[in-house]
Amino acid sequence: MDLAGLPPGDSPEIAFWGRSNVGKSSLINALTNRRQLARSSGEPGRTRELNFFDLGGAIRMVDLPGYGFAKAPKKTAQVWTKLTEAFLRGRPNLKRVYLLIDARHGLKPTDETMMDGLDEAAVSYQIILTKADKLKPGELAKIEEATLKQIAKRPAAYPEIIQTSSTKKSGLDDLRDAIAAFMPEFSG
Ligand code: GTP
Ligand code: MG
Repeated sequence: MDLAGLPPGDSPEIAFWGRSNVGKSSLINALTNRRQLARSSGEPGRTRELNFFDLGGAIRMVDLPGYGFAKAPKKTAQVWTKLTEAFLRGRPNLKRVYLLIDARHGLKPTDETMMDGLDEAAVSYQIILTKADKLKPGELAKIEEATLKQIAKRPAAYPEIIQTSSTKKSGLDDLRDAIAAFMPEFSG
């Protein structure tokens, strides 16, 4: 699979990215109210390709393969990463990347590396803290504050963070509102 095999870049897209197992596929399913539209799994490295979902034809969501998954055969992992990188750099209709971070762990060095790439390519991105149901509100507030400080100087990072739980279906309206704010075509 290479960039030529992707759907034409004819509708605006938002992509979901982040470490393997952070909850990308689950969040797309929760957001679109479609169980198993995107395949989620307890097995890290489940999403192995770029998956495109048309939402009423107007916009597309892109479920990207997670990074930081050591168990994938090295060569395959490199191809995914290259393809994802090519997609992120060369997709003019890509409006925003949602970068998912596990609320329990916060930013890891690999996340910082990926943000370096997004900043350099000037791809607008916003952080979502996932699995918010796993933390107490006070802990969540702390990690959000710390993360905001860490991204403050990053040029392409949106300076607000969204917290979600796909399990508890919380934060989904915040995310919908955020998407609708820069993408009028989006209606949930
Ligand atoms: P890859 O495709 O491997 O990169 O993973 P992914 O980021 O798509 O993660 P996926 O949605 O497959 O979820 C990974 C695991 O986390 C699954 O076992 C999910 O059930 C679980 N999970 C996802 N979202 C949440 C959440 O909001 N809360 C909790 N508690 N678990 C979640
Ligand atoms: Mg996935």
